[in-house]
Amino acid sequence: MSQQPECRVEGNYIVVPKGLVNVIVDETKISGVDPKGEATIYRGYTIEDIGEHASFYEAAHLILFGRLPCDEELKEIRSKIDKYRGQIPEKLFDAMKHVPVTHPMFYGIYGTALLGQYYAPEWRFDEDFLYDHALRLAAQLPVIFTTGWNLAHHGTFLRPDPSRDHAWDVLRMIIMREPSDIEARAFESTLVLYMDHGFNASTFTTRVIGSTLSDLYSAVAGGIAALKGPLHGGANEKAMEMFLDAMKKAEEKGVPLYDYIEEYIKEKLARKEKIMGFGHRIYKLHDPRTDVAAKFVAKLKDGEFWMKVLKKAEEVMWREKKIPANIDLYTAVLYYQLGIPIPMYTPIFAMGRVVGWSAHYIEQVLNNKLIRPTEKYVGPTGLKYQPIEERC
Ligand code: ACO
Repeated sequence: MSQQPECRVEGNYIVVPKGLVNVIVDETKISGVDPKGEATIYRGYTIEDIGEHASFYEAAHLILFGRLPCDEELKEIRSKIDKYRGQIPEKLFDAMKHVPVTHPMFYGIYGTALLGQYYAPEWRFDEDFLYDHALRLAAQLPVIFTTGWNLAHHGTFLRPDPSRDHAWDVLRMIIMREPSDIEARAFESTLVLYMDHGFNASTFTTRVIGSTLSDLYSAVAGGIAALKGPLHGGANEKAMEMFLDAMKKAEEKGVPLYDYIEEYIKEKLARKEKIMGFGHRIYKLHDPRTDVAAKFVAKLKDGEFWMKVLKKAEEVMWREKKIPANIDLYTAVLYYQLGIPIPMYTPIFAMGRVVGWSAHYIEQVLNNKLIRPTEKYVGPTGLKYQPIEERC
C-alpha cells in the first residue's frame, strides 16, 4: 500500500494530502466509521444490523430523521413514499421518450434536474419542506431510471404501483416481472446497505453543492454524476463484466469459474490492472456490508456456485495484495442473480444512496458554511496577452 502523506502548514494555509486522504472536513451525525474505527454506523446502529433487518422505509426514516420509526411514523413515511412514487409529472415520461439511448446514469442526472424544474423553482430552507422533498426524490428517482431504461430497451415501461411495497415495486419495474419475496428482500437490503456512507465522493459532492444554497434536486444531480465513475458506484458494473469475461474464458478451458478465477485475477494483477469490487478508502481490512450481501447471494439463484467464486476471488486478492472485497463485488453478483441488466447496477446504488444524499444536504444547509477550499497555483506567471499573429 502507498504511504499516505501528512498535512503541513504553509503560511496561513494548511496543505492536505491529495485526494483529501485521512482529512476530516466536517462533523456529521448521519453515518460514519465509529471513533474506535471498528464499525460503520448508521445513526448509532451498525450498518450490518440495519442492512440485514431494516426495511427501506425504516432505514430511510433512520437516516433522514435520526431514529427508527414507531408504528405511526412508519405508516406515515410508507404512505408518503408510495404516494410520491406514483406522482411523477406526466411530461417527464414524455421527455424520456425523446432522448438518445446512453448509460442510464444520465437518466438520473437529467431526470433529477427535470424534477427540480417542476418542484424547485422557488426553493426554501424550512425543515418540513426539505424533508418532504427528500421523500419525493427517494420515491421518484427509481421511476426515472426504470422508465428511461425500459423505454430505451423495450419501447415501453411499467408504471409504479403505489399500493405495493417500495423495494418490491422498484424491482418489478426494473426486471419487468413480479419478484419473489426473497428476491425483493435481497434487493431491498442492498438499497439499505448503499443508503449512506459518510463523506464518500458523491455525498461530499452533494454537500458542496448544498453549501452554495442550491436546491436539493441540483445537489443530488451532482451526486449522481459523481457516483457514475468506475472508482465509485460504477465499480459494481465493472465487477460483473469481469466475472462474465472470466466465465467465458473458464468455459473455453472447460473448468468451472471458481477453479479458474485465481489464474484470471493473477493475470490481471500481473498486467497492473485493478480488480473491480476490491479496495476501499476506508475499509482496509474488511467491508462489513459484504457479510450481509453474502447472506442473500447464498439464498438466490445459483447461490452455492457464486459464493464459491466470490470466496475464491477474495482469498486470492487477500493473499496477493492484502486488499479486501467491497460491497460492489457482492451486489454485482446479487443483481446478476436477480436478472437485472448490468447498466442498471449503478442506478440501483443511486436509488438507495439518494436518501443519504438528501440527509447530508439537509444537515449541510441547516448549519451551513460555504465549502470552498484554496488551491496552490503552480503554473506560470507574468505572461502578457499577444495578438494571434505574434503567438507562433
Ligand atoms: N485492484 C488492484 N490493486 C488495487 C485495487 C484493486 N481493486 N485497489 C487498490 N489497489 C492498489 C493500488 O493500485 C495501490 O497500489 P500502489 O500503492 O502500488 O500504487 C494501492 O492498492 C492503494 O490503492 P489506492 O487506489 O491508492 O487506494 P484509494 O484508497 O485511493 O482507492 C479505491 C480506493 C479507489 C476504491 C481503489 O481501491 C479502487 O480503485 N478499487 C477498484 C474500484 C472499486 O471497486 N470501487 C468501489 C469502491 S466501494 C464503493 O464505491 C461503494
